[in-house]
Amino acid sequence: MNVRCFDSPEQATAALAGRIADAIRDRPALVLGLPTGRTPISLYAELRRLHAAGALDFSRVSTFNLDEFVGLEASDAGSFRQYMERHLFRGVNLARERIHFLDGAATDPDTECARYENALDAAGGIDLQVLGIGVNGHIGFNEPGDSLISRTHRVTLADTTRRDNAAAFGGDAARVPAEALTIGMGAIMRASAVALVATGPEKASCIERMIRGPVTARLPASFLQLRRHVEVYLDRAAARRL
Ligand code: F6R
Repeated sequence: MNVRCFDSPEQATAALAGRIADAIRDRPALVLGLPTGRTPISLYAELRRLHAAGALDFSRVSTFNLDEFVGLEASDAGSFRQYMERHLFRGVNLARERIHFLDGAATDPDTECARYENALDAAGGIDLQVLGIGVNGHIGFNEPGDSLISRTHRVTLADTTRRDNAAAFGGDAARVPAEALTIGMGAIMRASAVALVATGPEKASCIERMIRGPVTARLPASFLQLRRHVEVYLDRAAARRL
């Protein structure tokens, strides 16, 4: 893994924003895989800034978000779709028809997962997959377990994941949906490039295990060791065990 360590979280996410901007300039019709969460808030702010400065054109880019909560309409304030609207989509010139999202309110989640998997295939897979990492080592919402699932699927969220997502639900983990739909490990492993960002001391342990530990379904991010190339953007706090 190609690990880059920065003095601050903002520097780490600014470097990743620069990496994404370069990829879009090289390939204007880039297929970009995107995460939500606290870590990429400053990443998306920097992408909005680059766009506003006239330095970045999203008009031909396609996006696929990693995951969405089950049971939430796209218009729900706690949905990842609304997070993306606030932090990126409203601030750049992405074509609406090229924004791809799992529908957490779909009446048949299995059909919805198959639809998303087909859309990923039709797009030719992901060119650049941006990832965060959960404290338990999840990527997307591929949670630790006895085994991992390759295709887009429905998942029961770990307690730590619900706690870490409580902010958007009035700070109450019990109000965080218990399930999500997520891209599986297959689409992530097949992406042409993967760039993972982690900041803050609470990520130091999972980052150490992701890079130095065994490849295990108990820490889904460890599977990234099997890829030829992964770029890892860290601040000092997240890198302190390396
Ligand atoms: C969210 C996602 C998750 C987050 C991870 C880290 O779409 O896919 O894997 O990237 O939970 O979240 P933060 O950045 O809030 O620590």
